[in-house]
Amino acid sequence: MWLVWLVLGMILIKTYNKITNGKCYSDKVMSGKVVIVTGGNSGIGYQTALELARRGAKVILGCRDEERGQNAVQSIIKKTKNRSVRYMHLDLSSFASVRKFVEDFKSSEAKLDILINNAGASGVHRDKTEDGLIRDMQVNHFGPFLLTVLLTPLLKKSAPSRIIIVTSTLHRFGTISDLNSPHSFMRTYCDSKLCNILFSNELARRLEDSDVSVNSLHPGHVNTSFYKATILEKLRTMILYTFFKNPIEGAQTSLFLAISDDCDHITGGYFVDCKEGYMGMKARNEDLAAKLWEMSEQMVGLKPEEQI
Ligand SMILES: NC(=O)c1ccc[n+]([C@@H]2O[C@H](COP(=O)([O-])OP(=O)(O)OC[C@H]3O[C@@H](n4cnc5c(N)ncnc54)[C@H](OP(=O)(O)O)[C@@H]3O)[C@@H](O)[C@H]2O)c1
Repeated sequence: MWLVWLVLGMILIKTYNKITNGKCYSDKVMSGKVVIVTGGNSGIGYQTALELARRGAKVILGCRDEERGQNAVQSIIKKTKNRSVRYMHLDLSSFASVRKFVEDFKSSEAKLDILINNAGASGVHRDKTEDGLIRDMQVNHFGPFLLTVLLTPLLKKSAPSRIIIVTSTLHRFGTISDLNSPHSFMRTYCDSKLCNILFSNELARRLEDSDVSVNSLHPGHVNTSFYKATILEKLRTMILYTFFKNPIEGAQTSLFLAISDDCDHITGGYFVDCKEGYMGMKARNEDLAAKLWEMSEQMVGLKPEEQI
């Protein structure tokens, strides 16, 4: 009998989630727009890239693995018939790779309309990178920080343009007090996601006088390969299917921020389910954001002429 109640309960939860999930209803065509989606080869990033390509945008997938990147490109081209989709190598755990990506991008594209900082790691990799930083912290914050700052002059030139940063509701449990020590995977992840939202808010303030908007988002809890090697992986099939969104649902808020005219004049916002959400207290702290910015500039080795 308990099994029947369990299955019934799971169906009810799933139905409730389906009904309440946010959806991007915009029917805007994106032809002529140039978009970068980092980590566009899987999960939320893949679905985001797929939908943007379906709407006619030129989409560049910034991925660390050539084979996975090219497979995603081929799959998107096959599904959308849009041939303006391509892979470019981008390993966010290496500042040299980020710099090369930006150089290559600038020499092949004249403009950039939308940058979607989607790629992320779960925090389980805590060894040091070639740049001397904790790997997943670099993938989640320091790499995207450098990438975004280096691309900002082009985004300004291409304005109106948009920067979208995928963070997580777990930013609430983060701190920026010790970003370069090996902590538990959960702490590393929460710290990095707090960094994402502080970075987004500070960047929005710095770009206030430009027509470049900057917003962050929590995609919801989404059943992707993200949970590999964490405890949730082991509980995957039942729990993740019942309680979590699928990747198409998980991509909706990124798409809303990239596409919708409703976002034209919004900057410095934090979105959940395609509407403004409530940031944690630390995320709203402007002093903390300014402190993180200064620390990030030093850690990524930003040159004076690159500062914004
Ligand atoms: N899933 C959730 O419930 C959830 C909840 C809140 C926030 N998020 C955020 O959503 C974003 C997307 O995650 P997802 O759920 O779609 O997971 P996913 O399917 O695992 O996608 C993560 C992407 O990031 C890429 N990536 C990892 N390390 C990289 C590196 N060093 N350089 C470049 N790319 C790298 C991965 O590439 P490979 O395929 O090569 O590994 C993959 O394409 C992340 O920022 C995550 O923090 C997810």
